[in-house]
Amino acid sequence: MTASRLPFEIIRDPAAMRAKVEDLRRDGRTLAVVPTMGYLHEGHLSLLRAARARADVVILTIFVNPTQFGPTEDLARYPRDEDGDLAKARSCGVDLAFCPDVAAMYGPGAQTFVTVRELEQPMCGERRPGHFAGVATIVTKLFNLTRPHLAFFGEKDFQQLAIIRRLVRDLDFGIEVVGLPIVREPDGLAMSSRNVYLAPDHRRQALALSRGLAAAAAAVAAGERDAAALLAAARAPFAEAPDARLDYLELRGADDLAPLTRLDRRAVMAVAAFVGTTRLIDNRVLQP
Ligand code: PAF
Repeated sequence: MTASRLPFEIIRDPAAMRAKVEDLRRDGRTLAVVPTMGYLHEGHLSLLRAARARADVVILTIFVNPTQFGPTEDLARYPRDEDGDLAKARSCGVDLAFCPDVAAMYGPGAQTFVTVRELEQPMCGERRPGHFAGVATIVTKLFNLTRPHLAFFGEKDFQQLAIIRRLVRDLDFGIEVVGLPIVREPDGLAMSSRNVYLAPDHRRQALALSRGLAAAAAAVAAGERDAAALLAAARAPFAEAPDARLDYLELRGADDLAPLTRLDRRAVMAVAAFVGTTRLIDNRVLQP
């Protein structure tokens, strides 16, 4: 790492972003990118701080990517607060904020998609067709435009992180992908930009996700290894949450996302649930 810091800059034009990072790389600077869809919360800020600690130049990208939303999903109402995000970014030591608009990122006739064939099939991929192709494509484009040495993502999107790690290996990006732990509210709810949608009663019922995962972890600590028993423990708090509907609850290998009937290796228990109309996800890594 070199010492001198850049003045904070907002870049909207992809070609300008690319030219800027080419200059910085020529100067020998280490670049880190934190891709986001904005509406930053503490989870995002933990990524920015970790990036700041590792790189000379921290690039935050803010882009609500239309190709990762299904036709009935919340693209139009996805929360946005660019001014607030930029203020938070500056307070975390971000150097460059890349905030393109949709037309700049997807020109007329765009038709190329990146797919990570197997890892994108289960879990969120099964329930949100096309979602991970949208994610893999935009992340590929953001990597090409920001040319980072390091890229930071949260473990809340566990399947997304597995897909990005695979795509970086398969496409020889030569980027170090850093995954950071879920940041939770004091009562355990995983931080998410979508939590803002929750009315107070639904906010309370949303705790079924984190409580279920904590119950499964407690069962593991008590010696339980049977997947069905662990999943039953994680499902139990949903009985107290009448407006919460499980979308999926699964135990899978942490690296390959293969389904498990026993906890016989490092695994992830992943949950998605609708609370009212808001879809939330959460997960917990379990070790035998
Ligand atoms: O995790 C997100 O916020 C998005 O899926 C990402 C990685 C920024 C791609 O749009």
